[in-house]
Amino acid sequence: MIMSAFMLHMRDELNAWMLHRADAVMDRIYGQRKRAIYSRLPNTVVEIGPGTGANLRYYAPNTRLIAIEPNRAMHPRLRSQAKRYNIHLQIKTMQGEQIDLPDASVSAVVGTLVLCSVQDPQQVIAEVRRILKPGGRYIFLEHVAAVSGTPLRGFQEKLLGIWRRLFDGCHLNRATNTLIGTAGFADVDMDCFILRWRVLPIAPHIFGVAVN
Ligand SMILES: C[S@@+](CC[C@H](N)C(=O)[O-])C[C@H]1O[C@@H](n2cnc3c(N)ncnc32)[C@H](O)[C@@H]1O
Repeated sequence: MIMSAFMLHMRDELNAWMLHRADAVMDRIYGQRKRAIYSRLPNTVVEIGPGTGANLRYYAPNTRLIAIEPNRAMHPRLRSQAKRYNIHLQIKTMQGEQIDLPDASVSAVVGTLVLCSVQDPQQVIAEVRRILKPGGRYIFLEHVAAVSGTPLRGFQEKLLGIWRRLFDGCHLNRATNTLIGTAGFADVDMDCFILRWRVLPIAPHIFGVAVN
């Protein structure tokens, strides 16, 4: 029991360390897309699963960020990124499936590379819709399942178990594009793209804005 708690703690710490180390690479891959949208966000933003704060560099200075981050191992690096980029950070150590914010209370929610890891992505999207005001925006960036029947999808299915264990519950085969597209948003503007390294199991991505 003590050993398994220790192992879980070590896994969380390792994931936080890896995520932080990947920061510069993620900026190279996603930075241009993020910059175009994040600079136009309102002063208060809710972010689901911000991890070690990969998105903080793109928010306008003085943004008030409500961070829904259940993994405490992420918090120290998240806090130091907030200090570095002048973001007013409030961390809520809770799951995106059950957020303690009132209905229709915020104008913008951001979630990047997170619906692959949550227990119930449909419920998280429902929570995003619940806390967003009518006309509020959900900005998403996710890696998704490759098209069924393709070699890449076969590769994703084969790797699924080991990948999930290595990367904090990350599912390679989630059709998050369909989940967002059918969640009931008034409008969804979704760009599907494949990373330059096409053989990577996380190559297929979606990026976009859904309006509540
Ligand atoms: C792959 S990391 C992505 C971090 C960051 N969003 C980024 O783009 O680098 C996934 C994050 O989702 C968080 N997470 C996992 N399950 C969650 C849940 N149920 N609700 C909210 N966040 C969750 C993890 O703790 C982790 O910080």
